[in-house]
Amino acid sequence: MRNLVSIILAAGEGTRMKSTLPKVLHQICGQPMLVYVLKAVLKAGCRKNYLVVGHKGGKVIEALRNSLPLEKTGIEFVKQTKLLGSGHAVLQVKKNLRNYKGNILVVYGDLPLLTGKTLNRLIQTHYKQDNSLTVLGTTLENPSGYGRIIENSNGKGIRIVEERDATPKERKINRVNAGVYCFKAEDLFKAIDKIRPDNRKREYYLTDAVEILGEMGKRVRTVMTKDPSEVEGINNRKQLVNVQKYINMKNLERLLLTGVTIVDPPSTFIDFTVKIDRDTIIYPGSTILGKTRIGENCKLGPYAFIQNCQIENGVEVRASFIYGAKIAKGVKVGPFSHIRPGTFVGENVRIGNFCEVKKSKIGRGTKVSHLSYIGDAFLGKDVNIGAGTITCNFDGVRKNVTRVGDGTFVGSDAKFIAPVRIGKDAVIGAVSTITEDVPAGKLAIARARQVIKDRKKKK
Ligand code: UD1
Ligand code: CA
Repeated sequence: MRNLVSIILAAGEGTRMKSTLPKVLHQICGQPMLVYVLKAVLKAGCRKNYLVVGHKGGKVIEALRNSLPLEKTGIEFVKQTKLLGSGHAVLQVKKNLRNYKGNILVVYGDLPLLTGKTLNRLIQTHYKQDNSLTVLGTTLENPSGYGRIIENSNGKGIRIVEERDATPKERKINRVNAGVYCFKAEDLFKAIDKIRPDNRKREYYLTDAVEILGEMGKRVRTVMTKDPSEVEGINNRKQLVNVQKYINMKNLERLLLTGVTIVDPPSTFIDFTVKIDRDTIIYPGSTILGKTRIGENCKLGPYAFIQNCQIENGVEVRASFIYGAKIAKGVKVGPFSHIRPGTFVGENVRIGNFCEVKKSKIGRGTKVSHLSYIGDAFLGKDVNIGAGTITCNFDGVRKNVTRVGDGTFVGSDAKFIAPVRIGKDAVIGAVSTITEDVPAGKLAIARARQVIKDRKKKK
């Protein structure tokens, strides 16, 4: 195999995104768009990958570290301090490649649909035709926003003209530049030295290398993609959402084929990082994100929102929000409940409607069926929590713990003024305000006794 390295451009701000987040970090199905590009480049077999970062470069590096095992990817970060254009971005890598003789794949960081297969086609053609530069292009029905690939009128070679620099006639051309190139290293840097910022944006355009190399008598050719959507560049949020819908659908199709039923794919959003076992059914309107693992035979939705959770087999979640929680086998949640981070819900527990559970451990078989708040609590096995029960966990300074032993029955509308500990097999009378520990096996009633008085007669 020949020598191949890549340069990935990710220094731009992405002004058209109108965002404080650098463009290449905008997420698509749980991954920054740049990660898709990197994965495609890695598939193409580059042994070293120079990633040019600039605008909020530290953030870009950190996000990549969180998404990929970087030591395995041969990545080296190169800084572009002043953002003077794509040509100037590539120039920053010149010193790193001083003695390098092979070929260089240059890829823009905003092309998340690009595949390793297409990159390979480009590279193979580049080798076969022994080109100085091979440019990836595509034909678009609506080419607006892209640089157009133009045959020079003297029949000698091609050039690329950006939309804003193009004449009305040139704008009608629908062969566009994808933003992916394969160069011979020495020709690339020779051409780059000749690029001048003589365009509307006063930037050093990498695309000018196309004409420059032609004029130097080098062989410059194009490879056209089979599928134009593959090189959709993301410049604004409209494009981001379109691509995200497309990638989401691909992910859902993959899950369907592994035995997960997704009743209504257009209304379902699942990150790539989510793993789901077979015979789980996902009903409409559900969103499953992050590092989530879901077992077999679960029924999720309609309208389940699940993020960073471990969910075992046979769990049912209807119209509820669950974040950062572990949910054991056979648990039923919802409708309309909220389970927050740090919660462990044991086997066959029922969390019913309008309940909030935060940073709590709920033992096997326990029922929290209606309208309860359980925070910083340890509930044992087979506890029954009556409707409207509240753990009063916050005293204004500290979060305090409530403990309820196995088999205890808590009547409706009880309040636990934490810290408080209830033993096993106790009974808490309905509407009690429990301020002191209750020993195992005892009945506690803490409410005002009912009085019956004569009514004053109306006159
Ligand atoms: C670019 C191409 C255009 C092509 C289109 C394909 C140029 C001049 N134009 O336009 O022909 O049709 O992509 O999507 O190349 N970047 C840097 N440093 C800079 C400037 C840009 O790293 O100083 C990076 C950006 O982060 C981005 C990439 O280069 O990843 C492309 O920049 P962008 O501004 O998106 O170029 P387009 O206007 O889309
Ligand atoms: Ca772009």
